[in-house]
Amino acid sequence: MTTRTSASADVRASTTAPESRATFTSHLGVIAATLGSAIGLGNIWKFPSLTGTNGGAAFLITYLFATLLVGLPVMIAEISIGRTIRADPITGLRRLAPRQVWWVIGAMGIVSSFLIMAFYTEVVGWVLAFIVAAATGQLQTTSPETLGAHFAQQIGDPAQSILWQWVVLAIVSGIIAFGVTKGIEATTKRLLPILFGLLVLIGIRSLMLPGAGQGLAFLFVPDFSKVTPAVILAALGLAFFKLSLGMGAMMTYGSYFRNDQNIPGTATRVMLADLLVSLLAGVAIFPAVFSFGFEPQAGPALLFITLPAVFAAIPFGQVLLVLFFVLAAIAAVGAMLSMIEVPITSLMGMLGWDRRRATVATLVGLVLFGAPAALSNSVLANAKLFGKTPFDLYDFLTSNLLLPLGGLLICVFVGWFWGLDQFAAALGNPPGQPSALTKALFVLLRFVSPILLVIVLINGLIPA
Ligand code: TRP
Repeated sequence: MTTRTSASADVRASTTAPESRATFTSHLGVIAATLGSAIGLGNIWKFPSLTGTNGGAAFLITYLFATLLVGLPVMIAEISIGRTIRADPITGLRRLAPRQVWWVIGAMGIVSSFLIMAFYTEVVGWVLAFIVAAATGQLQTTSPETLGAHFAQQIGDPAQSILWQWVVLAIVSGIIAFGVTKGIEATTKRLLPILFGLLVLIGIRSLMLPGAGQGLAFLFVPDFSKVTPAVILAALGLAFFKLSLGMGAMMTYGSYFRNDQNIPGTATRVMLADLLVSLLAGVAIFPAVFSFGFEPQAGPALLFITLPAVFAAIPFGQVLLVLFFVLAAIAAVGAMLSMIEVPITSLMGMLGWDRRRATVATLVGLVLFGAPAALSNSVLANAKLFGKTPFDLYDFLTSNLLLPLGGLLICVFVGWFWGLDQFAAALGNPPGQPSALTKALFVLLRFVSPILLVIVLINGLIPA
């Protein structure tokens, strides 16, 4: 025990800037940070668009199963590994399992982080551009054609796409370099309730539209014939994406958790709050989609075409629309901070770099990786690999391959390498007395989640 404590102290001193340690000192701070990572465009943009393209309620239910049977156990596993290693994923896993290859979980995580950030920053760029468009009244119309044309023009402009992406990268790296995670957390903590409130408001307004029932039925009345292996894989990938799993982000945040923090309780609360935000987004969007005669299969365009149409029809809609996009951007910032923290903390831990140098290197990488995603709807629209533009390929590779694979390795690590005793110790159970909850989680991690992951990965990828 003494050796582990001093080892952790060493790592703490050498790998992580003191300011990022200081933030996670209260229970509320931990919840805010973790929730800030989970809630983002995954809830507001990806969830509605995937639910729309994959058949509505049947997808939602598949997603719920994926979250309960795989997402939640993996989240608990990731955080508990993180709190045990108290270091960046690569350094920590190397020390936990010397001369073994478990550190690849951390290495894959860095790749995932770059790929996700590449397209994520592009979508946040659209959100920023739409803040300007909404504020200047360019979106004051309920016509699908006009709004669709505006969106197409926005994403089809190469210079604008790159520039907005750089603005997003500058904001995120500026915050990380200043090390003001505390400030951001405090801000998101205050602003997330407003996002909740606004979503409820839009939801109510959306439900009052003629034909809203059709949208609710789409979201809540399942047609299970729509569930194919590819749909299950998409649901599983979304569970990982939305809960920030499978790339070491939760592991990194877990390394900032207090020892007396109840990990399963925290993870469950974060999962439930994250689910609630997604459902609110669904209720805000789908009734309006059907009412205005849009296609629920619009995919990524849903948020940028449908939502403005709804807002254009309500009193003070313009102000609300601006606020909504502002809050979506803020939610995205919390998520991006957790993504960018993974390569940064890894560079610091492995190469001994200071935070500023690690941030600059990561930023350069993101500018390079990000450009193809930004240009996917213009210059590179026809540069397809496996039938996908770089934007879609990054998204598919991470959500449908790298994140579930990372999750699988985490399950196997805990279930088969670490074992019940170490897992119980990591969760803070008394020595030799794992709780019933711990045992149940362990069975999920050892058998259920990895078997499901293997089946879903194989079946979902083969026809693709
Ligand atoms: N969960 C975030 C969202 O819903 C995105 C995100 C943040 C993420 N950190 C991550 C996704 C790590 C995968 C891995 O928008």
